[in-house]
Amino acid sequence: MAIALAPGLPHFTMKFRPVFCSLLAALCVLAGCSKGSDRPGAASDTSGAAKGRIKLGFLVKQPEEPWFQFEWKGAEKAAAQYGFEVIKLGVPDGEKVMAAIDNLAALGAKGFVICTPDVRLGPGIVTQARRRNLKVIAVDDQFVGPDGKFMAEVPYLGMSATEIGESVGHALFAEMKRRQWPVEETGFCVVTFIELDTARKRTDGAIAAIKAAGFPAHRIFTAPQKTTDVPGSFDAANILLTQHPEVKRWLIAALNDTGVLGAVRATEGRGFAPENVIGIGINGTDCIDELRKQKPTGFFGSMLVSAPGEGFRTAELLYHWVKDGTAPPVDTRTTGIFITRENFEQILRREGIIP
Ligand code: GLA
Repeated sequence: MAIALAPGLPHFTMKFRPVFCSLLAALCVLAGCSKGSDRPGAASDTSGAAKGRIKLGFLVKQPEEPWFQFEWKGAEKAAAQYGFEVIKLGVPDGEKVMAAIDNLAALGAKGFVICTPDVRLGPGIVTQARRRNLKVIAVDDQFVGPDGKFMAEVPYLGMSATEIGESVGHALFAEMKRRQWPVEETGFCVVTFIELDTARKRTDGAIAAIKAAGFPAHRIFTAPQKTTDVPGSFDAANILLTQHPEVKRWLIAALNDTGVLGAVRATEGRGFAPENVIGIGINGTDCIDELRKQKPTGFFGSMLVSAPGEGFRTAELLYHWVKDGTAPPVDTRTTGIFITRENFEQILRREGIIP
């Protein structure tokens, strides 16, 4: 069953299976969180209306990434619509996750949505949450159990990673053809982060699709990134570019926009003109400034998935779970659409991602 969240875009495909005020402000400042505002440590709502409201946490691994800021915006929209409070926390490592769960419990929260900094923290997060009587929904990065398998008992919402990756592969191939690049001068740089399943599936999907389209396997090169930020992908791609001076034109894919941005910066550093680079990202939220640049860069486009939609939906599911006992679907997947310099403003506006 597919539920359209926004006309024309990202769909959620669901597989249903049974499955105090000063203290608050102080804790929030300590934890670097914000509540009901983008300002870290925003003061708590002391009005009578706030009393008795359900409190829910929204924890993200990389609060500096626009993707996660947009998820928070979506969660806030749900909070405003349903009248609950959302407590936003950045949790870049395991210690911060555990501290955040304790803080949420101390604040009287009833549950949280989390994109964990490490999927292997899943069992620890679940144990801690149960101990504190908090409900948990995983967003984006699915928890992995001690046996290496996904923790299917934890409701999850994330991208249809393989399909989205395949769309990247198809779009790269189509643009290469349109530009009439000689294949023998072209290389495909794939910045990888195989430790994370959703990341591996996206880049594997891109590789599979471009191969199926006829791009030669021996011209596909992977560059593992150590950290999933711009410096991490810049370093990974830079090594690859040094190893392949024979390549005159580069196609670029990665797990997300940030990964492609780092690799595009690396091509610039090595003197490649933008017309000899085609980078296609995933997210659509972390490339807005890039696509707005007056002069085109090698960052050609992105597969846009609705981050506010994911934030809204997970917060909404958690709220219903806490309030009415309605268990969320165990596995919900989102899809994307292709944006480029030509259409991104229009599509992002249509989808309510930018004003
Ligand atoms: C991972 C990535 C994010 C974003 C989400 C989407 O968490 O790190 O940039 O792509 O997946 O699910």
